[in-house]
Amino acid sequence: MEKIRIVVVDDTEETRNNIKTLLTFDKRMEVIGEAENGEEAIFITKEARPDIVLMDINMPVMDGIKATEEISVSVPETTVIIMSVQGEHEYLRKAMSAGAREFLNKPFSGEDLVRTIIKTYEMEFKRREHSILARPAEEIKSKVITVFSTKGGVGKTTLSSNLAVSIARMTKKKVALVDLDLQFGDIAIMLNVSVKNTISDLIKEINQLDQELMEDYLVTHFSGVRVLPAPIKPEYAEYIASAHVERIIKTLKGCYHYVIIDTSASFHETVLTSLDMSDRIMFVSTLDLPTIKNVKSGLDVMESLRYPKEKISVVLNKASEQFGIKYKDFENTLKHNIWAYIPEDSQTVITSANKGFPFVMTRTETKVAKAVIGIAQDIVEEKAAAGKDKGALKKIFGI
Ligand SMILES: Nc1ncnc2c1ncn2[C@@H]1O[C@H](COP(=O)(O)OP(=O)(O)O)[C@@H](O)[C@H]1O
Ligand SMILES: [Mg+2]
Repeated sequence: MEKIRIVVVDDTEETRNNIKTLLTFDKRMEVIGEAENGEEAIFITKEARPDIVLMDINMPVMDGIKATEEISVSVPETTVIIMSVQGEHEYLRKAMSAGAREFLNKPFSGEDLVRTIIKTYEMEFKRREHSILARPAEEIKSKVITVFSTKGGVGKTTLSSNLAVSIARMTKKKVALVDLDLQFGDIAIMLNVSVKNTISDLIKEINQLDQELMEDYLVTHFSGVRVLPAPIKPEYAEYIASAHVERIIKTLKGCYHYVIIDTSASFHETVLTSLDMSDRIMFVSTLDLPTIKNVKSGLDVMESLRYPKEKISVVLNKASEQFGIKYKDFENTLKHNIWAYIPEDSQTVITSANKGFPFVMTRTETKVAKAVIGIAQDIVEEKAAAGKDKGALKKIFGI
């Protein structure tokens, strides 16, 4: 069943959390994003094109009325419901003339909330019914990309999440992101999506798993990427076996154009399955000796598994020659070319992780974002290990 996709906008975190909690009880709805002021609300709405925006009126930076005005012009398929405190008649009138379709008086009960959303959604749906065309079924050509390393803390999660978001934005195709770091996965935190179910819940129904059931277990990030989160507790990881992972990837391949998989730093059977089933492996390294040693052993394992060399792309993160190791020496040691470079930029990377806003969306002017967007582009254009012009890359990123 298609869920009603909702964005919650309020400057008080507690209010946003209360609303999210109220909505988790209703299976017909899914909160796909949140914002704390009008400006963020516009940004998220343009990206995510939700069905409904629940909009507070008084907020810093930009108020809810201005935001409603902008949204109703530039994202007409989204319907705004205003949340106002009783008595704010003048505001309410302004909000409605700015394009809000409905309002809720604060405080409201869960029942009020759900009823108003359903009523508004159905009204809008009826209004638009004529213009909705059924899409023809299409055969999907899917690519599976695993982001891997034999070392923790090198940037696998940073790369996989920003890569998934970049590809989704660039291609407008369906992208799934699977967190296969089964013990300590942090994709859900990195992307700030609210987790209802995880891969642990999914495997309980693994024998019935089909595309439709799969959809129930994926959560939507506001970029459009659909996420399968890692278990909530590390000890749940041991119940997940390679056969489960195989079935999950197979199912996703049937309905997602790109399946991006984040992994833990190990050759655990589940990770091996994912590597086996991948069209491409992004092998992430940094330029320090312990990491290089581990990456070298990892590449040796892959060679003994007879993975073709072009399946593996070495991505050098936090790339810099200033700590004494030259790129050339690194390549000679690994007997692999560096396929892509990502510069270090803690300010951008860490702030974006803390906010749950991927830097490839919000900080596109930075070198680090440009590097990841470049990687996404090469993946989309299917540039293999040999086919890339590194000279040009160096010129662009100044590294
Ligand atoms: N290019 C980068 N510049 C600066 N910090 C980075 C960069 N890439 C990753 N980091 C930081 O390094 C740490 C580890 O990254 P993470 O993606 O969680 O690695 P992994 O998933 O491999 O353990 C995080 O704090 C992250 O913010
Ligand atoms: Mg990680």
